[in-house]
Amino acid sequence: MTEEGKKFRAAITATAHFLPDKVITNADLERLVDTSDGWIRSRTGISERRFLPEDEPTSTMAIAVAQELLARREIDPDDIDLIIVATITPDMIFPATACLVQHAIGASGVWAYDLSAACSGFVFAVATGAQFIESGAHRRVMVIGADKMSSILDFEDRTTCVLFGDGAGGVLLERGEDEAGLIDFELYADGAAVECLHIKGGGSLYPPSHETVDQRMHYIRQEGRTVFRFAVEKMAEVSASLLERNGLTGADLKLFVPHQANKRIIDAAAQRMDLPPEKVMMNIDRYANTTAATIPIALAEAADQGRLERGDLVLMTGVGGGLTWGSTLFRWGD
Ligand SMILES: CC(C)(COP(=O)(O)OP(=O)(O)OC[C@H]1O[C@@H](n2cnc3c(N)ncnc32)[C@H](O)[C@@H]1OP(=O)(O)O)[C@@H](O)C(=O)NCCC(=O)NCCS
Repeated sequence: MTEEGKKFRAAITATAHFLPDKVITNADLERLVDTSDGWIRSRTGISERRFLPEDEPTSTMAIAVAQELLARREIDPDDIDLIIVATITPDMIFPATACLVQHAIGASGVWAYDLSAACSGFVFAVATGAQFIESGAHRRVMVIGADKMSSILDFEDRTTCVLFGDGAGGVLLERGEDEAGLIDFELYADGAAVECLHIKGGGSLYPPSHETVDQRMHYIRQEGRTVFRFAVEKMAEVSASLLERNGLTGADLKLFVPHQANKRIIDAAAQRMDLPPEKVMMNIDRYANTTAATIPIALAEAADQGRLERGDLVLMTGVGGGLTWGSTLFRWGD
């Protein structure tokens, strides 16, 4: 929507995140697969990640985030109009995990749905949620990114299982009182390269069967090098493009909050925008890649650390399965 077409601004008025207690170090993974702490650190920047207990689903983390958002903003569940959960690890194929969150927090008169865009899930969801605020249809939208990646990792595939972790984060979007809010976004999808990042089994193409399980088709698969090249190119490209079309450069940004897939991917994007390290949010060393949750976790940590003040410009960029990629530019409020 153009600036002129907007009735209202969609401002981020609260942030929250949740990480499971259980820490899995690279040394722990050395005991499961043929890998090493040195390889993982040097190739990815990851030192450890968190795993949710096996018997707890993604909704556990999304619900904790939703409750924290309500508590921080001191509002009732009924004050929410819409809940969007970005995830590729829903509790069940259906209903949507967002419906489970709605029920758990006791929100009535609300609608809720999931959005699937893998590691771009949060930026897709936050841009989508903002449209309902900007049009005047809604006053408050909860946007959560949550993934239990440990539930889809193949611990016989060392190239992929070392990269991911579990977590959730989210924001509350509300009608902005002033200039604070979503300024612009650029989002993209290209389904041509499905093969390089996907879970093939368990859907309608290959419904679950003994054969799909025997072939381990219900686990995430990726061609690391192809995805790496794509991510380096697109994260830098879309971030720079969004800044440029708004007449901005990296110097105008307070904080770049990129998807945390690989430290080398983030460094390349930061270099393209000429950003010094203090303007780049990085926590991949502690949490690894939590897919739809990396950006809202990083944003919530930055806010909690007091790194954002009224008027600051924040750029969030995601790249992931689909393939999908995109960027959102916000002006921070109170
Ligand atoms: C996966 C990734 C870290 C691999 O790094 P890389 O530098 O490209 O490494 P390569 O794939 O070229 O593998 C190099 C070697 O390390 C080996 N290797 C792969 N995984 C390993 C592991 N966990 N431990 C030790 N060695 C490993 C490979 O087998 C290969 O050995 P070879 O040269 O004898 O064949 C990197 O490609 C990446 O980050 N890709 C993006 C993935 C991503 O984040 N996707 C999420 C969605 S955005």
